[in-house]
Amino acid sequence: MADKPAIAQVGPLGDDIDAQLQAQYSVLRLWEHPAGIETCAGAGITAVVTSVRHGCKAALIERLPDLRAVCSWGVGYETLDVAAARARGIVISNTPDVLNDCVADLAWGLLIAAARRVAEGDRYVKGGQWRTIGAFPLSMRVSGKRLGVLGLGRVGEAIARRGSGFSMDVRYHNRRERPAVPYAYAPSLLALASWADFLVVACEGGPATRHLVSAEVIDAVGPQGIIVNIARGSVIDQPAMVQALDEGRLGGAGLDVLEDEPTVPPVLMGMDQVVLMPHVGSATRETRRAMGQLVLDNLASFMAGRGLLSPITG
Ligand code: 8YV
Repeated sequence: MADKPAIAQVGPLGDDIDAQLQAQYSVLRLWEHPAGIETCAGAGITAVVTSVRHGCKAALIERLPDLRAVCSWGVGYETLDVAAARARGIVISNTPDVLNDCVADLAWGLLIAAARRVAEGDRYVKGGQWRTIGAFPLSMRVSGKRLGVLGLGRVGEAIARRGSGFSMDVRYHNRRERPAVPYAYAPSLLALASWADFLVVACEGGPATRHLVSAEVIDAVGPQGIIVNIARGSVIDQPAMVQALDEGRLGGAGLDVLEDEPTVPPVLMGMDQVVLMPHVGSATRETRRAMGQLVLDNLASFMAGRGLLSPITG
């Protein structure tokens, strides 16, 4: 039998996918070499398997003279050094599309939870206040409101589409207007934020979008408005958002991601108007299985000389 193709794996991706990689390839498991790639033989390795969490740095790429492809788990790729890879003609894949619905579902879960005080109500009932205090404070209506989506990519579109089920008026702001979609384009994020009851952040992370949701944008969402973030913590000026929430200048927030996660600003912990999740947009059994399979399929397709199935092109 021919030798298995040699790959490097930056970090563990779960028992199932790790086992499949081991069965099909000769895997250099980099996390088992604490001294780093410097101590390993990099020659002959043609592909790296990684994830948005584990990343792929230029230093690793430099140590692998035969590297031709990076197959990453996750749709985000701000932790992969795309420029360093491209400079060497190395192709990169991520796992788009298969997670759109689950991330959009969670955005809506957070939106409804923040507006209708779901997490707070749960604590109220389980804490016994329903019996001792009685009536629970009124919350904010969801149906028929204005939904603003920042970033109308594949996930953003799935979020926008769900708005029709709630009879919402949907607008978006994006780098480029998308004339084919049935939603109005807001020419600026500030215009979108001023208009929207709910501003859902669904754009890419990385330096280009850092603190796009600025103090001014947060104030435009306002005390009757709610911000939902299922993208990256870096997109929002977090200190400004926390201050606005604390001072009642922003009505509420539903956050799956934070800047510097898993560190949580202590003041957020005590805020009933904020619903937090531990970065789990894609974390359903079904979607995680599909993401793992897409990594394996990309790798197999590349190794068979057919190219990547879901290459990063942007
Ligand atoms: C993951 C993600 O939930 O795909 C991405 O870019 O952020 C999510 O799918 C996250 O990477 C978990 O660490």
